[in-house]
Amino acid sequence: MAPQINPSILSADFARLADEARAVEGADWLHVDVMDNHFVPNLTLGVPVVESLARATGTPLDCHLMIEAPDRWAPQYVEAGAGSVTFHAEAAAAPVRLAREIRAKGARASMALKPATPIEPYEDLLPELDMLLIMTVEPGFGGQAFLDIMLPKIRRTRELIKKHGLELWLQVDGGVSATTIERCAEAGADVFVAGSAVYGASDPAEAVRALRTQADAATARASWSCDH
Ligand code: DX5
Ligand code: ZN
Repeated sequence: MAPQINPSILSADFARLADEARAVEGADWLHVDVMDNHFVPNLTLGVPVVESLARATGTPLDCHLMIEAPDRWAPQYVEAGAGSVTFHAEAAAAPVRLAREIRAKGARASMALKPATPIEPYEDLLPELDMLLIMTVEPGFGGQAFLDIMLPKIRRTRELIKKHGLELWLQVDGGVSATTIERCAEAGADVFVAGSAVYGASDPAEAVRALRTQADAATARASWSCDH
């Protein structure tokens, strides 16, 4: 799969969400950070805002749920119009059941790992998922510095995807920018969330294009992307 760029509206102007969504037309997905002030120490938006956003933009919504009890809430985000729903492994009571429910309702099912959560215990679950999100900052806030120490986890996850012959997408989120995206792509990521690097730019659509160009080039020279 070609690299995908998903701007995060966490760094957008929340009073102008429809305009901000349109400002990044050409992006693959719009990344929507849902925070409940319990799983993370920050509060953002919920189901009604996702419903309105889904009506306001043709770009599919990639909802990242940083919330407790995702088993209870995640299905509502599919009904609200999200094309992909990500729950956190640390918060889900029954991740396999939840992933199956998200898929059955018609969205892509995705699971996220905080920086201190290893991938290895989840190896057998990967076929149940459409995407795995490796957090490259502690979740909760935009604009934090990229954690280089997550690169080995990205590499190991890409190896597991290859080993099992999976179609799983591998997303990175947190501190992804012009200075870090190539390292992520070379390590094996193929879906890139960028908040401040896109909405902090004077031309967000141009920032998306520039990140895509970098990701494409880094993927082309990465050993994991060669089939031979
Ligand atoms: C952080 C969120 C991210 C955030 C990324 O908890 O999950 O999606 O918007 O913002 P940047 O790209 O500024 O690190
Ligand atoms: Zn996010």
